[in-house]
Amino acid sequence: MNSYLSSLLKRSPHLYAWEKEYKLKGKLWRGISTSFDFVSYLPTGAKVLELGCGDGKTLAALVAGDFQMTGLDVSPTAVDLAKEKIGSKAKFVVGNACHLPFKVNYFDAIVAIHVFDHLTENERKLAVEEVKRVLKPGGVLFFEGFSVKDFRFGKGIEVEPKTFRRKNNLWYHYFSLTEVKRLFFDFELVNCVEECVSRSISGQKVDRCAIKFIGKK
Ligand SMILES: C[S@@+](CC[C@H](N)C(=O)[O-])C[C@H]1O[C@@H](n2cnc3c(N)ncnc32)[C@H](O)[C@@H]1O
Repeated sequence: MNSYLSSLLKRSPHLYAWEKEYKLKGKLWRGISTSFDFVSYLPTGAKVLELGCGDGKTLAALVAGDFQMTGLDVSPTAVDLAKEKIGSKAKFVVGNACHLPFKVNYFDAIVAIHVFDHLTENERKLAVEEVKRVLKPGGVLFFEGFSVKDFRFGKGIEVEPKTFRRKNNLWYHYFSLTEVKRLFFDFELVNCVEECVSRSISGQKVDRCAIKFIGKK
């Protein structure tokens, strides 16, 4: 880890909380990955970056799609876990979504599945600027974030509007459709939908609700 990242983690408890989670629990993500149909938008060999790749759940699905994948995460332990899972089929970078170590116009697509959810309002704006910088003209952004209708909305202490800090220090922001469209206003809108899926958790029926956005630079 370089000195920029170690100092970032030291001064950002909400980011360091991720490193602590992965160190304590190991792999965090199981089950089915996102339902985005990447293959119908991207040609074989497309250069794709997954922001906040975690331990590699979504990255594993993307690697199967024959893209040139790079996974980036702020947690060094998450990146190690993703490397173990995926091996040499992807490149890996420990880095910050708000300060991407890539050249201008480099990627054909960026995938951001539940990573903006964990940023502060200011960081979300910085990350959007970085996504725009490193995407090629015509490049595609796939975004997914939990919505205000999600059953966990309100869990924890509200630290910014619609953003809650849980006991483990992780921050959770919940989006509305309008907010997502506003955040990515200068992308050409391909699709933006809110999807709710009913789940049974500890015998109780709950709604997991997320907003999915596809846009072109
Ligand atoms: C909910 S997990 C999503 C995992 C993955 N996208 C997937 O679909 O399996 C959020 C991930 O974002 C990472 N993350 C949070 N803030 C970040 C930042 N500023 N830069 C890069 N990664 C970040 C966390 O370490 C965590 O692994």
